[in-house]
Amino acid sequence: MELSYWQSRWRKGNIGFHMDQGYPGLKRHWSTLNIPESAAVLVPLCGKSADMDWLAQRVGTVIGVETAEEAISQFFSERKLNPDKTTYSGFDVYSSGNIELWLGDFFKFPENRHSGYDLIYDKASLVALPEEMRVRYAKKILSLSTGNTRYLLHHFLYDSAEMSGPPFMVSAKEIDELFSHKFSTTVLEEQDLDISKFPKFELRGLNRYLRERLLLLTPK
Ligand SMILES: C[S@@+](CC[C@H](N)C(=O)[O-])C[C@H]1O[C@@H](n2cnc3c(N)ncnc32)[C@H](O)[C@@H]1O
Repeated sequence: MELSYWQSRWRKGNIGFHMDQGYPGLKRHWSTLNIPESAAVLVPLCGKSADMDWLAQRVGTVIGVETAEEAISQFFSERKLNPDKTTYSGFDVYSSGNIELWLGDFFKFPENRHSGYDLIYDKASLVALPEEMRVRYAKKILSLSTGNTRYLLHHFLYDSAEMSGPPFMVSAKEIDELFSHKFSTTVLEEQDLDISKFPKFELRGLNRYLRERLLLLTPK
């Protein structure tokens, strides 16, 4: 999936994945995660996720990486913030308070930006990528992880004969193949969603089931 595909979606405002109030599963499970107040949280493929705001009120640093300039400018303008801008390693880096948003390709995000992330928060990120890119993405996530990094991962199960992504169907087996040599997986929640609440997916052919899962991957 080309970066231009996502940049074009942002230009057209085709951002059905964005949740104005953030993803409720993060709030439901936060207290059980025991993330320290000093934590650094990495949000790959962050869009303009409201979860970054929510996280920034609870941890030391939030670092998002996103390829669409619109996403980053909207994140700050919607909060009436004027971020500082610097450049680092070919990225434009916009920061305000304890939030840093890096504009560029996540696959080129420098591995030495931080000494260790306590949490990598993945909502609609792995599932935004087709299969061959997910292999590269998983390697990148692993290269950014230390023995103390936990990885919170949201994904969908559906019949991929009915609809193609994004969001891509990423099976539990595939997640195991990508991550189980480094992480143990706990299913924090799993539920069937009412497909009629996703009319765009219905139009694309989805009609049997749509299940969402939130996983916590903990280093082995
Ligand atoms: C499905 S959206 C999810 C956004 C956000 N996580 C959310 O839940 O609202 C995927 C995002 O990843 C961005 N993206 C896709 N490929 C990327 C890449 N290689 N590097 C950085 N951002 C990328 C897209 O522009 C898009 O905003």
